[in-house]
Amino acid sequence: MSEVEIEQRIAVIGLGKLGGILLRAFLDQQLVSADRITATVDHQENAEARTKIFGLPVSTDNLGAVKDADIVLLCVKPAGVQALCGEIAPLMAGKLLISVAASVPTSAIETHLGNGGNVAVVRAMPNTPSVIGSGMTGLSPGRFATDEHLALAKSLFDAVGRTIVLDEKHMDAVTGLSASGPAFIYVVLESLAEAGVKVGLPREVATLLAAQTTLGAAGMVLDSGSHPALLKDEVTTPAGCTIDGLLELEEGGLRVTLIKAVVKATKRAAELKG
Ligand SMILES: NC(=O)c1ccc[n+]([C@@H]2O[C@H](COP(=O)([O-])OP(=O)(O)OC[C@H]3O[C@@H](n4cnc5c(N)ncnc54)[C@H](OP(=O)(O)O)[C@@H]3O)[C@@H](O)[C@H]2O)c1
Repeated sequence: MSEVEIEQRIAVIGLGKLGGILLRAFLDQQLVSADRITATVDHQENAEARTKIFGLPVSTDNLGAVKDADIVLLCVKPAGVQALCGEIAPLMAGKLLISVAASVPTSAIETHLGNGGNVAVVRAMPNTPSVIGSGMTGLSPGRFATDEHLALAKSLFDAVGRTIVLDEKHMDAVTGLSASGPAFIYVVLESLAEAGVKVGLPREVATLLAAQTTLGAAGMVLDSGSHPALLKDEVTTPAGCTIDGLLELEEGGLRVTLIKAVVKATKRAAELKG
């Protein structure tokens, strides 16, 4: 449960996969009470379904949702941001807009919102492990966002994991590393589990060993603050088993493949700016 409760009213515009993960976490953490939240989707049938799932009003009426909100959490696809901002612009003066749309810069959102161009915007790039409170979110303030706005955005995303405030020039890299990253780790994890099956373990046991080992290794890096290479050396007994496995990883190019995956995802994030 969160130690703080946010007093502001929130409108979640685009209650899809990510919007739903964030809203569920805010409610479960008791960070915001349900009576201070409204949400919207594009299709009426989805609005009805999500009203039941979340137990709060979900509609297709963006202006109605934004009207009384203090914070607008924009969770639509990047291609929908411009039209959405144009629609809600007349009601945005004095509000904070937090956008999770990949690749869309705060400057573009500020321009789409008009209003003399001075609406507070914070760009956030979370990832899906937010659903279990283990998310990683990069945050960048726009030109008109104050420290107070940034602190408010941070308190929302702190409820779903770790947060880091970064210069916006790094946001495509955040997208390529930590937003796309869970998919890369799932492939590594699945491969480790396959390996366990290959050496005779039942699949559920192999998956458990692979997942808990991934969690443990990540925890060691975060808790100790040690360089991963030093932690790797601690596991690697001279002439033992691990060094033989590491040699296979080097020969198979795991290191360079992962680096190239993040570089490609980062480049793609930059391309999506349009
Ligand atoms: N998924 C991730 O891991 C991740 C991570 C970081 C950032 N993001 C960003 O999060 C955003 C959403 O991604 P997602 O994966 O959650 O997509 P999604 O599941 O497709 O959700 C998008 C939601 O927007 C709604 N929507 C579309 N047009 C609308 C409109 N005019 N008014 C109100 N609602 C509207 C859709 O409604 P319907 O349901 O009725 O179609 C849907 O619920 C994207 O910009 C993405 O870049 C995603």
